[in-house]
Amino acid sequence: MTAQLATEERTARLGRLLGEATMAGCVIGLVGEVGSGKTTLARAVLGAWQVESAVASPTYTLIHTYAKEIYHIDLYRLDARQAADLGLEELWTERARAVVEWADRAPELLPADALIVRLLTVGEGRAAEIEATGPSARRILDQVEGAWRRG
Ligand SMILES: Nc1ncnc2c1ncn2[C@@H]1O[C@H](COP(=O)(O)OP(=O)(O)O)[C@@H](O)[C@H]1O
Ligand SMILES: [Mg+2]
Repeated sequence: MTAQLATEERTARLGRLLGEATMAGCVIGLVGEVGSGKTTLARAVLGAWQVESAVASPTYTLIHTYAKEIYHIDLYRLDARQAADLGLEELWTERARAVVEWADRAPELLPADALIVRLLTVGEGRAAEIEATGPSARRILDQVEGAWRRG
């Protein structure tokens, strides 16, 4: 699915829809240049998951852990090797939910069945291309697409 995001509010709306549609076990990878709206989208997803403040993790400052296996992860400063050392695979239980910024730094560390959101800068606005890499993500994406079309 492709979504035109003319304003920051549209990015936030897409994030809310993604958050509302995702169930336990879902990981959303965000890909896009600095300024493309990854954090804006991530915050809206986390808002829909009803988490507001991160519990600081003493071990992994790049992994923000919220209650109930909810994570906001930023791989920005990592190379592929460092990302591999984070041990993300261990987080992906069937109850976990996560938003991963700079997911392209370590695509193989995401679950096989995930949503990938590519954000692009288009003039003053942004656009999102969303892809599902497995059947659970596909069902979520169909729901998001329907809701997005309805406005
Ligand atoms: N759809 C949009 N249209 C215009 N500006 C946007 C849009 N989405 C986000 N922004 C703005 O772009 C800037 C960078 O957003 P941010 O989410 O921090 O990007 P990133 O995390 O990818 O670096 C912020 O000022 C934000 O308000
Ligand atoms: Mg950011």
